Amino acid sequence: MALDIFSFKILDSPILSDHKCHFQRRFPIFSLYYAFASLWLPKRTKMNFDDLQILGIIGIEEKIGQFRRKLLEMKRLVILSGAGMSAESGIRTFRDMNGLWEEYDVMEVASIEAWYKNPALLLHFYNDRRKQMIESKPNRGHMLLAELEKSYDVKIITQNVDDLHERAGSTSVLHLHGELTKARSSVDPSLIYTLEDPEMKMGDKCEKGSQLRPHIVWFGEEVPAMADAVPIVESADYLCVIGTSMSVYPAAGLINYASAFAPLFLIDPNPPASLPRRVQVIAKGAGDGVAELVKKLEALQK
Ligand SMILES: NC(=O)c1ccc[n+]([C@@H]2O[C@H](COP(=O)([O-])OP(=O)(O)OC[C@H]3O[C@@H](n4cnc5c(N)ncnc54)[C@H](O)[C@@H]3O)[C@@H](O)[C@H]2O)c1
Repeated sequence: MALDIFSFKILDSPILSDHKCHFQRRFPIFSLYYAFASLWLPKRTKMNFDDLQILGIIGIEEKIGQFRRKLLEMKRLVILSGAGMSAESGIRTFRDMNGLWEEYDVMEVASIEAWYKNPALLLHFYNDRRKQMIESKPNRGHMLLAELEKSYDVKIITQNVDDLHERAGSTSVLHLHGELTKARSSVDPSLIYTLEDPEMKMGDKCEKGSQLRPHIVWFGEEVPAMADAVPIVESADYLCVIGTSMSVYPAAGLINYASAFAPLFLIDPNPPASLPRRVQVIAKGAGDGVAELVKKLEALQK
């Protein structure tokens, strides 16, 4: 496992691995070290192959090669998910409720002004959302997306604040609008804490002494994760939007960064009437919709 983590680190940094090859070309002694260490050391020290692998003496180059080949073969599938993704897990969207989010006016519970006006109400509202999330389970759509990592380099960008993608097993999830599982300082946005107790209370403080607030991006606030999301969308070989009305900006503008060559899909049981012609609409819920997406992607790979 340690070795895998190490290999991934190198893979994540093409500059580092290129530098290493360059280093090996410039200084052949470096390669000699590998040959010497893997032939002489086992005899001298009676170390076996596994010991040498753990010490990082042999096997790394081979592992890097294996992972690099695998990643190069994989096409990148980028998913933009919204509240509809979690609807089949029992978490309600708010557009479907005519702008109400669980009986509340959205601006009363999801804006920075609301936090200044009534922080206790917002803590209560998000405590309820957190409890609802804990009781919910990932649905078939979440599970199929996690499964797709076997065949694609899947990157998920979600507007959702629940953790259902992660609980289904997806390993690359960027939350544009924050996470219910976390709290943050109300004076220093870099102070983010993973919640141990699902109940946040007035009087819970950060290390600088300010009231803790939910780690949620509210209307009227910046979306710092956009800076990470844009290059991910630009790098997509395939892009699929699932369960979002694409009406909350700046998230809704992300689709414009997709390459003109990347096939675009939309999964939504109530798709908008007019869409650009290149968008392939799958007018189904997330579960059946992702199952159909899998088939469409397979057809494109042939
Ligand atoms: N689960 C959550 O974390 C959650 C839930 C509600 C709201 N929100 C927040 O509210 C904002 C809402 O924007 P939004 O565009 O994501 O949601 P939205 O409520 O504006 O739109 C939901 C979309 O999902 C579609 N939909 C409904 N049922 C579906 C299903 N079974 N499968 C697939 N699609 C389905 C609807 O037709 C609609 O287009 C986001 O910022 C989000 O942070 C989050």
